[in-house]
Amino acid sequence: MTWLITGGAGYIGAHVARAMTGAGESVVALDDLSAAVPERLPADVPLVEGSTLDGDRLKRVFAEYGVTGVVHLAARKQVGESVAEPTRYYRENVGGLATLLDAVAAAGIRRLLFSSSAAVYGNPDVDLITEDTPCAPVNPYGETKLAGEWLVRAAGQAYGISTVCLRYFNVAGAATPELADTGVFNIVPMVFDRLTRDEAPRIFGDDYPTPDGTCVRDYIHVADLAEAHLAAARRLSESGASGDLTLNIGRGEGVSVRELITVIGEVTGDRREPLVEARRPGDAPRAVASAELAAKELGWRARRDVHEMVTSAWQGWQRHHGA
Ligand SMILES: NC(=O)c1ccc[n+]([C@@H]2O[C@H](COP(=O)([O-])OP(=O)(O)OC[C@H]3O[C@@H](n4cnc5c(N)ncnc54)[C@H](O)[C@@H]3O)[C@@H](O)[C@H]2O)c1
Repeated sequence: MTWLITGGAGYIGAHVARAMTGAGESVVALDDLSAAVPERLPADVPLVEGSTLDGDRLKRVFAEYGVTGVVHLAARKQVGESVAEPTRYYRENVGGLATLLDAVAAAGIRRLLFSSSAAVYGNPDVDLITEDTPCAPVNPYGETKLAGEWLVRAAGQAYGISTVCLRYFNVAGAATPELADTGVFNIVPMVFDRLTRDEAPRIFGDDYPTPDGTCVRDYIHVADLAEAHLAAARRLSESGASGDLTLNIGRGEGVSVRELITVIGEVTGDRREPLVEARRPGDAPRAVASAELAAKELGWRARRDVHEMVTSAWQGWQRHHGA
């Protein structure tokens, strides 16, 4: 089998490429380089510059590399940007997926893994989010992921493609410092950014109905996430694999913003007291995955804890930002 990883030179894509080649899989990456760090890719993984919006390019890559399965991660991923530019998000995330699925079907490829997000759930008022929790995204980014899942399942049925949709929770950390996330869009790099500027971390709201009043999330190490992709790819490769699977990828454990900032203080040695500011609109008090279905279907569970995530993310931050 040869797997094409779209968005392969991105933060998660490079980790997936590393995990899959490390386990002996043959991998090729496709990336339009709009948000990529190509040096992240393992040396033995060819990188093709191209967009998922370009069907002819995709067909040529499938033929040239003998692609037999696709891991589709290429997407725009910033919630705020999706609110400001919804047509672009639908065009690139959903339109790019439709073009990709047409090319996959035309090439007779029978396996596809789709990178979805906990954003499909919106803000459900439940202790643990299971895959049966109703989906009600609260921004265009989450909508494109939910529409993407629908499209993946419909195309899977129509064209005989076995599919897996993985709904990632809050991704953090790095397998090695070079592979770290270079963006400042998630809480861990946002706190590092504040500390590097000699500013206290910010907490948006400490009056939520949670044990310490701050929002609770499910953080997952990107290396664990990459291993989940490998397990899902292996599952799709099994003879007779068919149908579609949709799985939460989280640890099943809640960590509050205040607890996370305490761990960041321990790791960085910068223990300054966070500033408490007003709640941000749209933040759910709690979003924690039930991780049981992934364990049952893939035999996969996250192994790395929040301390390991923060430590590895901090090493990556220091490498990229010279802190
Ligand atoms: N990082 C997270 O916390 C998180 C959480 C849930 C889901 N996701 C999803 O995981 C996937 C990967 O996220 P990431 O954090 O690695 O983001 P990233 O921006 O680091 O990687 C995305 C990669 O895709 C490329 N790309 C974008 N549009 C493309 C297109 N049309 N054709 C080809 N390449 C394209 C970019 O250049 C980039 O290298 C995305 O689908 C994202 O929505 C990420």
